[in-house]
Amino acid sequence: MKSIEIKPGIYWVGAIDWAVRDFHGYVTPDGTTYNNYLILDDDVTLVDTVKYDFAEDGIKNIAYLIDPSKIKNIIVNHIENDHASALGRIMELVPDATIYITGRGKKGIERFFDISRWNMKVVKTGDELKTGKYTLQFIETPMLHWPDSMMTYVKEAKLLISQDAFGQHLATAARFDDEFIEYASHAELEDAVIDYYANILMPFGTLIKSKIAQILKMGIPIEMIAPDHGIIWRGNPERVIQMYQEMAEGKTKLRVSIIYDTMWHSTGMMTRPIMQGIKDEGVDCKVIKLRATPMSVAIKDFWNSRGTLIGSPTLNNEVFPSVAEFMTHLRGLRPKDRIAGAFGSYGWGGGAVKWLYNELNNMKLETLEPGVQVLYRPSPEDMEQCYEFGKEFARKVKEYHENYV
Ligand code: FEO
Repeated sequence: MKSIEIKPGIYWVGAIDWAVRDFHGYVTPDGTTYNNYLILDDDVTLVDTVKYDFAEDGIKNIAYLIDPSKIKNIIVNHIENDHASALGRIMELVPDATIYITGRGKKGIERFFDISRWNMKVVKTGDELKTGKYTLQFIETPMLHWPDSMMTYVKEAKLLISQDAFGQHLATAARFDDEFIEYASHAELEDAVIDYYANILMPFGTLIKSKIAQILKMGIPIEMIAPDHGIIWRGNPERVIQMYQEMAEGKTKLRVSIIYDTMWHSTGMMTRPIMQGIKDEGVDCKVIKLRATPMSVAIKDFWNSRGTLIGSPTLNNEVFPSVAEFMTHLRGLRPKDRIAGAFGSYGWGGGAVKWLYNELNNMKLETLEPGVQVLYRPSPEDMEQCYEFGKEFARKVKEYHENYV
């Protein structure tokens, strides 16, 4: 892959990972990219590195443009392995380079590398680095999504290098949003943004809202947003900012996801009348069987729906393991602005539905209780109860959704 000029003298020198399908547990059917950027100015500056496996590809991309030993500054916006694990390899080439990093970034990076001989300069919001004709301004974004995180704004280019924020897991020949839309569609691009937000940034909505407000208040013109994954926002950077603002405000679809698993089909059977009841109330519904669906896809469906019903059989007085796994993921993502409920089946001793409501209440989600539980096999009366539960839940979802439109 060739380096690509994104602004005068500023180049994408990253790597495309067409093959990755499991990104620390997050399923990436379209692969991803590790974007980093080279600023050819009086002082040559590299912003971020790539995942270690792609270090040599990144170095080749730099070498297309300049002898890599000429790099004077390295900005480390984020120390997670997909962006910083090639840093050691780069430092072998330029041991005298100065690394610009946040205080928390420095504390973190020394757990990965021996930094005793490296020139480290700790920066905070508002600090600037003049590279020649360009001025780089640093903006700390702690917990978006790691404590060390920051963004780098290139003033004269009106370019925001945003690290993970505004990124997407998309390996594509397109480097820019307008190119991608030409090859694929707006809908595909926005779906990738939502997928990334749901699985990585869901817990940080409040922080995202205030950080975007802070950046807008700084009055910095943004013509281009260059994240560390996926396409670069050149055609319509305002759209991704708007999407983030809306998601942080709790915007989602008037839709219900039924996320379940089943042992001998009883809980699975219950999904059909529940879905029919939801549909008969005029609400769209999607049914997701957990062992047939990657966890990150189920999380995206949860995020894309105002309401979710979780279904589980009881196994040895416990919730079914795949459902417990989903709930563990969901708990960590600290969901908000959604309504939920539960249903399930049992043989001799129940437990799963109670456990699910306990979890949902601990997450402080709005719930419709007590849900539906059936013994062994749903009877016609049970199926009717499921249908009515679906209808009642859909009505509650519509009512709750009104608060967000
Ligand atoms: Fe793409 Fe938080 O690393």
